[in-house]
Amino acid sequence: MKKMFLKLVLLCLCLWRLDGVFGELVIVKDGDSVTLNSDLTEMKDDDVIQWKFKNTLIAEINKRADRITVYDDVLDGRFRDRLKLDNQTGSLTITNTTTEHVAVYYLQINSEIKRFRLGVQRELLDGERAVSVKEGDSVTLNYDLPEIKNVFVIQWMFKNTLIAQIIKLLDRIIVDDDVLDGRFRDRLKLDNQTGSLTITNTTTEHEGDYTRLINSMSTDFYLHVFVEMSVMEGDSVSLNSPLTEMKDDDVIQWRIGDENTVIAEINKRSDRITVYDDVLDGRFRDRLKLDNQTGSLTITNTTTEHAGDYKLLKFSERFSSKSFRVSVYGE
Ligand SMILES: *[C@@H]1O[C@H](CO)[C@@H](O)[C@H](O)[C@H]1NC(C)=O
Ligand SMILES: *[C@@H]1O[C@H](CO)[C@@H](O)[C@H](O)[C@H]1NC(C)=O
Ligand SMILES: *[C@@H]1O[C@H](CO)[C@@H](O)[C@H](O)[C@H]1NC(C)=O
Ligand SMILES: *[C@@H]1O[C@H](CO)[C@@H](O)[C@H](O)[C@H]1NC(C)=O
Ligand SMILES: *[C@@H]1O[C@H](CO)[C@@H](O)[C@H](O)[C@H]1NC(C)=O
Ligand SMILES: *[C@@H]1O[C@H](CO)[C@@H](O)[C@H](O)[C@H]1NC(C)=O
Repeated sequence: MKKMFLKLVLLCLCLWRLDGVFGELVIVKDGDSVTLNSDLTEMKDDDVIQWKFKNTLIAEINKRADRITVYDDVLDGRFRDRLKLDNQTGSLTITNTTTEHVAVYYLQINSEIKRFRLGVQRELLDGERAVSVKEGDSVTLNYDLPEIKNVFVIQWMFKNTLIAQIIKLLDRIIVDDDVLDGRFRDRLKLDNQTGSLTITNTTTEHEGDYTRLINSMSTDFYLHVFVEMSVMEGDSVSLNSPLTEMKDDDVIQWRIGDENTVIAEINKRSDRITVYDDVLDGRFRDRLKLDNQTGSLTITNTTTEHAGDYKLLKFSERFSSKSFRVSVYGE
């Protein structure tokens, strides 16, 4: 029997080598426990410690009032029976983690705030394959056909939506590339012999779970689509918008990081261009150039503080987005 090679799918926007700037990065395997360390050896008598998931309070120790509270019913109960708070150190343990726990956690000790970024690695399902592709490239999701006597139908789903199928009996291939806002339009090819699916000219919108169904047997794939940008410290980096020209009612925003802080916006409706370069301690001050035709963003004179995950969001007709991961290298 062939030994299954298990890879891991990383479900977070991870920043390597940047722990100091973006908070401690903690990676845990789906289903395992993880402890976020307060780094306190012992709490003082009047300490107040609060743990937040994004902006929601999930646990609190109030030494003054001698009270320990775990709010595990919040957020649809995703933390129910999963939180353990160490009453000596204030450290928080999350047991049986799932991808729903991916986020930034804040630990507030009196007035001091510490950040943790939690990433959950999901182990691939039995037989699932992880496939990575650079944006713009083509990718074929291929898997040996199982030995099924009579293949009547081969179907492909993206996040539970049917996007393509071969109906053998009718000798027909149906590619439903208008679904999901047309993100697959003119991009899908189905091989009628092997049942493999090719996605051409991938964009970050194609990232996610794919399932091939043959009769009733399913095979799973996880597709990663990424745009990687690297720049030497001091140089400029341009994050190119896919738009060639903005329309009259377009609104676009550039956002950075887990907090999705807005750093620039073009609002064609109100004919306004705004660069918010004083956010985030002014790290972008006098460094942002926005192309008012395409919405592309250039960051000049970069420092390691500009490394991170950037998103271009477009609001009009239909919502679309494009993600970039920028690394800045020092000497
Ligand atoms: C702290 O935890 C220990 C063991 O988990 C327990 O015995 C003790 O009663 C707790 N103290 C308070 C104040 O909850
Ligand atoms: C872990 O969580 C899943 C649901 O996310 C649940 O089905 C499973 O029983 C849990 N396992 C343990 C050991 O609590
Ligand atoms: C399947 O492919 C073969 C060869 O490429 C072609 O002759 C046939 O018409 C195709 N069938 C369908 C349903 O497209
Ligand atoms: C790839 O897709 C982009 C939009 O996402 C489009 O502008 C470009 O023309 C496409 N390239 C090819 C070769 O189809
Ligand atoms: C767009 O940019 C060009 C050149 O950078 C400038 O001349 C023009 O005034 C700008 N338009 C708006 C609406 O800001
Ligand atoms: C680039 O930024 C550094 C600080 O990070 C500053 O000292 C330097 O003057 C800047 N250079 C230019 C050309 O703006």
